Amino acid sequence: MSKTAKLEIDGKKYEFPLITGTENEVAIDIKNLRSGTEEVITLDPGFKNTGSCESAITFLDGEKGILRYRGYSIEELAEKADFLEVAYLLIFGELPTKEQNDKFHNDIKAEAVVDEDVKKILESFPKSAHPMGVIASLTSALTAFNPSSVNVESEEDMYKAIVKIMGKFPVLVAWTLRRRQGLPLNYGSDEIGYVENILKMMFEKPNHPYEQNKILVNALDKLLILHADHEQNCSTSTVRIVGSSHAGLFASLSAGISALWGPLHGGANQAVLEMLEAIKTDGGDTKKYMAKAKDKKDPFRLMGFGHRVYKNFDPRARIIKKAADEVLGDLGIEDPILDIAKGLEKEALEDQYFVDRKLYPNVDFYSGIIYRGMGIPTDMFTVMFALGRLPGWIAQWREMRLRKEPIGRPRQLYTGATLRPFVDIDKR
Ligand code: SDX
Repeated sequence: MSKTAKLEIDGKKYEFPLITGTENEVAIDIKNLRSGTEEVITLDPGFKNTGSCESAITFLDGEKGILRYRGYSIEELAEKADFLEVAYLLIFGELPTKEQNDKFHNDIKAEAVVDEDVKKILESFPKSAHPMGVIASLTSALTAFNPSSVNVESEEDMYKAIVKIMGKFPVLVAWTLRRRQGLPLNYGSDEIGYVENILKMMFEKPNHPYEQNKILVNALDKLLILHADHEQNCSTSTVRIVGSSHAGLFASLSAGISALWGPLHGGANQAVLEMLEAIKTDGGDTKKYMAKAKDKKDPFRLMGFGHRVYKNFDPRARIIKKAADEVLGDLGIEDPILDIAKGLEKEALEDQYFVDRKLYPNVDFYSGIIYRGMGIPTDMFTVMFALGRLPGWIAQWREMRLRKEPIGRPRQLYTGATLRPFVDIDKR
């Protein structure tokens, strides 16, 4: 492989270095492109071909359907690790020893309390407010209650901010759900596991002790692991670019939550269930929805299908599809929606339009079926995605700040009006 990329513009030749990553991916280093040419830039809407950073956190191979966190395969992590171990791995780079894991959990528990005044903010929202809007606001509000901005040069400061948000975010998620259900806001218990406590805070009734169900604990733990990071996706890139202005961690995370909300991104898990419900109401007519998805005049897309990077099966979708069968089976739930999903998947995988465009089920296609089986309302699905993605966002934000990355500020190609004189209003 040559060490440089050669470019010729108007007869002038330029060379730019080629950089190779640890998985033999190759990038053209264009850091000096504009200064080294007559101010020529690249143009790449949606950054489909543009790397924004070097990162050591998550590796994806979209053609082979590979996903690894810090070198460990998603399949092994989903099978053998728990969510807190994976959070530690993503953020600090190594799987924790037992002592490190216990300390991490204890430090998180010590921070799993939220200022009572946050309840006033929560209660100011209409009960009909979408939970993603609520949780984005509450996350940003945490800055007001924890004003000291993170001094990233201090490992201790950084660690404190990390355990703070890892402790408080699940409380805000549970409170967001319970407020809409008119249930008292609680804290669960600091004597049980991280995921066990999320379920207890979400589902405990005021008049009956919450009984843990191992099936639900394992299902949620696995779902959170599968959502924990995914390199430079839309919301993670948002967290990084907001953090690159040296805005605080909580403010950057709040921006990431808002980006995740969109139906083309994390909001797809809610949109998938709404689509499957519509197909069910329509008598299971999947062909109608397949036709809509292929009709260029129709904005409808087959939600839960397609991916910017995966041009093969999303490895997470494979794991979640298997888990959906197991969880619903173990819970004794016969959900016709699961059958419709499988029917739609089969049809799409055999359809030329989808085959030609390499559109496969993604992480969002089956996850909502499990969340629903666990009794989580549909419009809370994307909040659950954010709960899983939290450690990934933290890890990526920390990496960006520790590497002292420059403020994110893309260029543009101007195609508007050239210079023209002002015209007084009575002459227009
Ligand atoms: C997530 O990036 C990440 O890593 C995200 C994520 C993560 O973990 O962070 O993996 C989570 O966001 C998963 C994606 C969830 N979104 C959906 O399920 C929404 C439905 N999917 C599509 O909107 C779409 O596939 C995207 C947004 C996911 C990807 O869009 P791209 O990469 O911009 O691809 P494109 O829009 O250029 O599509 C290429 C072609 C087009 O047809 P042509 O113009 O070539 O004829 O494929 C078609 C598209 O119309 N197409 C679809 C389709 N997705 C793409 N057609 C019908 N249904 C779809 N779902």
